[in-house]
Amino acid sequence: MLLDIVILAAGKGTRMKSALPKVLHKVGGKSLVSHVIDTAKNLGSDNINLVIGHGADRIKEQLNDASLHYVLQQQQLGTGHAVQQALPNLREDSVCLILYGDVPLTSGQTLAELVALVSDDSMALLTVTLEDPDGYGRIIRNAQGNVSAIVEQKDANKDQLAVNEVNTGIMAVQAQHLQKWLPLLSSDNAQQEYYLTDIIAMAAADHIDINISQPVDELEVLGVNNRIQQAELERYFQTEQALNLMEQGVALADPDRFDLRGELITGSDVSIDINCVLEGRVEIQDNVSIGPNCVIVNSTIGSNTVIKANSVIEESIISGDSDIGPFARLRPGTELGLGAKIGNFVETKKAKIGKGSKVSHLSYIGDAELGENVNVGAGTITCNYDGVNKFNTTIGDDAFIGSNSALVAPIKIGQGATIGAGSTVAKDVGANGLAVARAKQRNIANWQKPTKK
Ligand code: UD1
Ligand code: MG
Repeated sequence: MLLDIVILAAGKGTRMKSALPKVLHKVGGKSLVSHVIDTAKNLGSDNINLVIGHGADRIKEQLNDASLHYVLQQQQLGTGHAVQQALPNLREDSVCLILYGDVPLTSGQTLAELVALVSDDSMALLTVTLEDPDGYGRIIRNAQGNVSAIVEQKDANKDQLAVNEVNTGIMAVQAQHLQKWLPLLSSDNAQQEYYLTDIIAMAAADHIDINISQPVDELEVLGVNNRIQQAELERYFQTEQALNLMEQGVALADPDRFDLRGELITGSDVSIDINCVLEGRVEIQDNVSIGPNCVIVNSTIGSNTVIKANSVIEESIISGDSDIGPFARLRPGTELGLGAKIGNFVETKKAKIGKGSKVSHLSYIGDAELGENVNVGAGTITCNYDGVNKFNTTIGDDAFIGSNSALVAPIKIGQGATIGAGSTVAKDVGANGLAVARAKQRNIANWQKPTKK
């Protein structure tokens, strides 16, 4: 069976009250429409049509996906009109699945089951039964209980309004049926729009059965029209991910206080405390423990590493056995060797820190390469910037940098060298050498303290 997919995304999304086109707003760190496109691709369709109108250029630019067929709907004359714009792209003997760009979390399984209900003499409609059906198109059934029409809320009479089985908008139909029915739509209704939903009555009149299927969870078919619905879907999405991770053995201190906005790969015995945010592609290997309030972005955390509370790690590679935080900030380009330690209030950037090296307190290490077993004392700064250009600092194995030192780059500190505390070092220091660059101490005996006048 050939599967063609049409995703409707031309609407404005006024209620988001945002300059950003609605379908580019995010759930789980990914735009609404990207969720739908990824699901469509996973269904195995090689003909995905995205109907765009409001913010079309911005959507195209952001998706930057040449595998999609973009269909421009200049004026938003209704859902039926929107699908009609894609008709030339549909293949004669395909089944067409219609999705909404602002309904992000429909599961692939729900959709596969829906598509499987389509045959030569039937179509398939995804419905949901809601306690409060307000705003939705109602599913109308005949005396035999078969679906005979969908009536939009604004066109419905009192009896029809009382129906609480509603149209999700998602349906699967033979493309040739759409080719026949869509040109027959009229806009003679309360909203003066070409309603896609009018094809249901046409199907019934043509003796095409309308098979119904329902999603496992009603949030699967919830659309995002405002910030409240967006937040509701965000929680649903995060809970699904959290349950999934816990099933894989990840110990989450509280699944309600965990946010993954991307992809997480985990080893065994990983524990994550509350309020952590993980973004992009994060890999956490065996026996890693992550304290509360940590943010980790596009990084790999090697096994047996302990990350303590309130640490922020971006685009970094941690080899393993490391001790990080609390309050550590590892910026992009940080690479820690095995057993390295980054303590509290330490910021690193483009820094390679060798095996067993320690930067335990209050330091800035940027554009630097440290060998193995280097000890960097509290308050050490690599002065990597002269106001115009950036320069590198290199520190050899076993070097000892005394507290409160300023290393003015470009500079090389040799293997085994020692820097006296409080030094401002601007010249290279040879292997095993000592550099002390601070005012010589002067002691004055019996110093007379000033007295109050
Ligand atoms: C539609 C259905 C309704 C259903 C509800 C589910 C119709 C006539 N009604 O109503 O039965 O219960 O969805 O949420 O289909 N769009 C376009 N071009 C247009 C109009 C809409 O691309 O000209 C897109 C929108 O961007 C949106 C989707 O189609 O993604 C649905 O449009 P919307 O206006 O929200 O339809 P509803 O009135 O909610
Ligand atoms: Mg809607």
